[in-house]
Amino acid sequence: MSRHNQQVIEYFDQTHNDYRRLWGIDRHLGLHCGFFDEAHSRHDAAVTNMNRVLAATAGISPGDRVLDAGCGIGGSAIWLAENISNVHVIGVNINEMQIAIANDHARQHEVQSRVQFRIADFAHTGLAKHTFDVVWALESMCYADDKREFLAEAYRLLKPGGRLVIADGFLTRDDLGPKEQKIVERWCRGWAIPNVLSVRRFQQHLRETGFRKVQFRDITRNVTPSSRRIYLASLLFYPLGLLLYWAGLRSELQTRGIASGYYQYVARRAGLGVYDICCAEK
Ligand SMILES: C[S@@+](CC[C@H](N)C(=O)[O-])C[C@H]1O[C@@H](n2cnc3c(N)ncnc32)[C@H](O)[C@@H]1O
Repeated sequence: MSRHNQQVIEYFDQTHNDYRRLWGIDRHLGLHCGFFDEAHSRHDAAVTNMNRVLAATAGISPGDRVLDAGCGIGGSAIWLAENISNVHVIGVNINEMQIAIANDHARQHEVQSRVQFRIADFAHTGLAKHTFDVVWALESMCYADDKREFLAEAYRLLKPGGRLVIADGFLTRDDLGPKEQKIVERWCRGWAIPNVLSVRRFQQHLRETGFRKVQFRDITRNVTPSSRRIYLASLLFYPLGLLLYWAGLRSELQTRGIASGYYQYVARRAGLGVYDICCAEK
């Protein structure tokens, strides 16, 4: 296991309770931003709505086989099984604790016959090639140290004509000045994100991997209430987090995580970061 992946595991282990308290993951099971629109103006509804928007973008239909790459605690996989008939989902995650929680949720929702969760690296799953109609990566691709490895594995796993659907943060451009780079580094570091690519660079990687019909949709406006929620929480809790850190009651990693919440918003306001849905076909 790479050092980076160990850091990602540690990050999600140590911040699990923050996600429960501040994001409400026990209610909606989603570790991602909400998609806010006229019909979904509240946090929980918008978080769930993101699943609906991605499923529609990827054109997931009855009977499809889906890989949820970086499945968190299973929210999307369970949503797909409950909302699209006869869909089969395999969720992979390197975090053992999250996989155990995902399995509990699958049992509670009685979808175990159509949803399976496994501990695996999404860039090296060990699954058979040409198996999936859709590879789904909701705010997980950003954790790939090498985005090209992630894309190569997704391509290998997809059936011909299969779709890759991603929702994630990107940079608006490559030529960042030193101050801008510092903002992006601080946004990424606390959340254990190794690097974030520009839309242009990522499009290039997709085409080089062999993907076609590459489409990007900027949904920054739809996720802004989530982004602002994280920012406000960081303003409120960073001072308290620091005090608890100095008192030895919170780790450095947990404290840095709060700071990232501030910098992701600053990056967005400065026009450096955007949130896109990307869909591409094998
Ligand atoms: C922000 S969470 C999103 C989880 C889920 N997609 C959701 O929307 O609720 C990112 C997830 O990606 C997982 N992850 C990060 N790197 C991974 C890797 N190399 N292989 C598999 N999962 C990974 C993390 O453990 C975490 O569960």
